[in-house]
Amino acid sequence: MEQFAALRTAEGVAALDAAARVAGGDPLSAAAALRSAGVPAGLAATALTQAELRRRAAGKFGAAAETMFFTRPGLEQATRMVVAQRRARRLRAAGVTTLADLGCGLGADALAVAREGIRVYAVEADPLTAALAQANAAAAGLADLVTVDCGDATAFEVTRVEAVFCDPARRRAGTGRRIFDPNAYSPPWDFITGLIERVPYTVVKVAPGLDHALIPAGAEAEWVSVGGDLVEATLWCGPLAEHPRRATIVKEGPPVNASGSKGAPSYHFSGSPAADSPAADSPAVHQLTGPGTAEAPVGPVRRFVYDPDPAVVRAHLVAELAADLDATLADPTIAYLYADDATPTPYARCLEVTDVLPFSLKRLRVLLRERRVGRVEILKRGSALEPERLRRDLRLSGDQPASLVLTRVAGAPTVLICQPAS
Ligand SMILES: C[S@@+](CC[C@H](N)C(=O)[O-])C[C@H]1O[C@@H](n2cnc3c(N)ncnc32)[C@H](O)[C@@H]1O
Repeated sequence: MEQFAALRTAEGVAALDAAARVAGGDPLSAAAALRSAGVPAGLAATALTQAELRRRAAGKFGAAAETMFFTRPGLEQATRMVVAQRRARRLRAAGVTTLADLGCGLGADALAVAREGIRVYAVEADPLTAALAQANAAAAGLADLVTVDCGDATAFEVTRVEAVFCDPARRRAGTGRRIFDPNAYSPPWDFITGLIERVPYTVVKVAPGLDHALIPAGAEAEWVSVGGDLVEATLWCGPLAEHPRRATIVKEGPPVNASGSKGAPSYHFSGSPAADSPAADSPAVHQLTGPGTAEAPVGPVRRFVYDPDPAVVRAHLVAELAADLDATLADPTIAYLYADDATPTPYARCLEVTDVLPFSLKRLRVLLRERRVGRVEILKRGSALEPERLRRDLRLSGDQPASLVLTRVAGAPTVLICQPAS
């Protein structure tokens, strides 16, 4: 708290500006540069840490990170802007005008919701995190729409709002270790399920590994991937549920931020809400929906193999994708799809299968040598083999690339040698 207060003095603001100019390079020289500019050692260290966190945060928040305040755990847990913005827009489209964010962290979701013109009552148990969330709302020009209270979210009077959002902490405070038991989340799972009963418009951010058995009856479960990485799942309850299951695939654009440097997506947000809300360079988004209970047909390995996006797999929508692609599984328990044609799809990567072998290291090595393959990418589903170990054991020396798919076909360990589908 003291360090944060120091950063908000005129001296602290100047130190942060100076730190932003030198962060990202050698930390010792950065600290020396600040001290030689007359910044006291303690303040220099604080400013450099914050500047470093802002640089890292650009991957999630683009240029908006430059004026936000972070803690390391707060940044790790924060929802990336593109995902928070989509969620907020869906809430606005459903007619929500007031929302409680129960456990708001640094406020990534609360700010996105407020940018849509929704009044947000945020509650955060940790005093420093709550102070940073309030400062982030002010920096975004959203202080009029966001109130942050430091306290226990489970005590919030939910009749004050139309909708609630909860993104429970899934890491232990202090150690940062991941929590897998939902009853150990904070707020805990039984509070969340109670919330769903009390407030029809409830939205819950959950781990993408969520057990389907925990999805409340009637709720929509949405899995989101960004740039091919599965980032989170959301439960949409009551009138917000549109389909039992949804896979949302966000294709990120070129990683260039507002100032032109690489490594951050370019989201541009104006300070004021709704009227001129985010003129983001919206990335392409694709959505697949369905009941999540259908089973894809099973057949032989065919000319093309599709590796479905992890959001499709986790949402149990592989059968819906199979129907779109006229594809089949080669093993009922493994989510690779096979088809005679290469159909362009945002929901899966497609490779052309050149060889199918029962798995044998020796045979694989011989075949890859014959083909002069020296570089392999290794994909796997349903195989216990370790890709890096296999890569070493193959001792490849050629100059040609290939993709290896380690899987099972009708229960038997199998390797597919593949090339990109043209
Ligand atoms: C996963 S983080 C929220 C991140 C936030 N959605 C974002 O994108 O920035 C969960 C937060 O809930 C807070 N928290 C946990 N239990 C709480 C409780 N009972 N009352 C209030 N806040 C709580 C934690 O301190 C943590 O900051």
